[in-house]
Amino acid sequence: MNNRQLFLQHVAQTSDAPLALEIVKAEGMYMWDAGGKKYLDLIAGISVCNVGHCHPAVVKAIQEQAQTYMHLLVYGEFVQSPQVAYAKYLADHLPASLNSVYFTNSGSEAVEGAMKLAKRHTGRTGIIAFRNSYHGSTQGSLSIMGDEYWRNAYRPLLPDVLHLHHNSMEVIEQITERTACVIAETVQAEAGVWAPSREWMQALRQRCTETGTLLILDEIQCGLGRNGTLWAFEQYGIVPDVLLLGKALGGGMPLGAFIADREVMWGLTHQPVLGHITTFGGHPVACAAGLAGMKALVEENLVAGVAAKEQLFLALLQHERIRAVRSKGLMLAVELDDFASNKKVIDYCIANGLITDWFLFAPQCLRMVPPLIITEEEIREACRIILAGLDTL
Ligand SMILES: Cc1ncc(COP(=O)(O)O)c(C=O)c1O
Repeated sequence: MNNRQLFLQHVAQTSDAPLALEIVKAEGMYMWDAGGKKYLDLIAGISVCNVGHCHPAVVKAIQEQAQTYMHLLVYGEFVQSPQVAYAKYLADHLPASLNSVYFTNSGSEAVEGAMKLAKRHTGRTGIIAFRNSYHGSTQGSLSIMGDEYWRNAYRPLLPDVLHLHHNSMEVIEQITERTACVIAETVQAEAGVWAPSREWMQALRQRCTETGTLLILDEIQCGLGRNGTLWAFEQYGIVPDVLLLGKALGGGMPLGAFIADREVMWGLTHQPVLGHITTFGGHPVACAAGLAGMKALVEENLVAGVAAKEQLFLALLQHERIRAVRSKGLMLAVELDDFASNKKVIDYCIANGLITDWFLFAPQCLRMVPPLIITEEEIREACRIILAGLDTL
C-alpha cells in the first residue's frame, strides 16, 4: 500500500472525503506534494502559520530547545525558561490586566480552562455564547458551539448554556448576575468572517462589568495579527477579562493559552488545589517555537502590512459569480451561491496549485487566511487562479 492508502486505512478519518494531499515539504508561503507539485498556501493550516511555514527563527528555536530539554514535569511545577519568557513577552504586548498566562496544548483546552475559571471566579454556572460561533471540539467547547447540527449527536452536553444572536443589541439584557461568563469570538471565523459592530462589543463589555460576568474573547483564529492589529479586540476599544489564544500562538507547534489577571487566575490554585492541570500544556519546545514566531511577527512588522494586503485582495476579487466578500484583515470569505459552486472552485484551485478551503458554518464561502508574509505578487497570482476557477462555474 502507498502512503495515501495507509492514511485511509490506519489514520482515523474525520470525513469521507479528506483532501489527502501528501505534502512532503513546506516553507514560507509554499508546500510541495510527493509528486513535486508546488502549492501556494492561502489557509496557513487554518490561521496557524502567520509567519509562514518553517520560519527559520522558529526552526532554530525548536532545535535549540529540543537539545536542551523537552518534557520535565507536569505544567506549573518547575520554572521552565521558554514558558517564562513567552508569558512575559505576551504580557508585555497585552493590556496590564492580561498579565497571567495559562498555557495549554490546544485552543479547545484554553476554552475549557477559561470556562472553569469563570465558574470558579464567579461561583455561578450560567454561560452565554453566540450563534454560529466555533470554539473547538471537546465536550465543553462543543456545548458552546453556535450550531445545533454539530452539537446534537453528542448530547447531553454542559447545562446552563444560552446561545444568543451575535451582534444583536436585544440580547445584551440576557446577561445577568447569574451569568458566569460570556464567550465570543472577537470576529466570528467559521461563520464566514462576521465582525460585530464596535457598539455591540462595547455594550457587551459594559454589561459584563455591570453584572460581574467575565468577558472571554476567543482570538484563537483571529488573534496574533490576523485581523490587522496584534489583538483583534484592540479595534473595539475594549479589553476582555480572559483572552483565548491558540493556532498561531505556537509558531507551528501545538500551543494554546487562556490569559487573565493574576488575581482571577489565582482561583485555580485552591479549593481545590490544582484546579486545572495538564501534563504537556506549555511544552518547552512549543513555547520556544511560539516565542520565536511571535518575535518574528513583531520584529518583521508583519501586522503593519495586513491592511494593504487585504485591500489588494478586495480590489482583485471582482467576478459576477461572487455574491459578497467579507474580510477583517487577512481573514477573508468569498461568498458564492452554494457549496457545490464553492467546492468546484476549491478543487480547481488545488488542481492549479492553490490551497483554499470552506468554512464550517458557511460552506458556500471560500476561505482565505494566508500567512501574513504573503507578497503582492502572490496575492495577484492567488486571485488570478480563483477568478479562473470562478470562470468554470
Ligand atoms: C475560534 C476558535 N476557537 C477554538 C478553536 C479550537 O482550537 P483547537 O482546534 O486547537 O482545539 C478553533 C479551531 O479552529 C477556533 O477557530
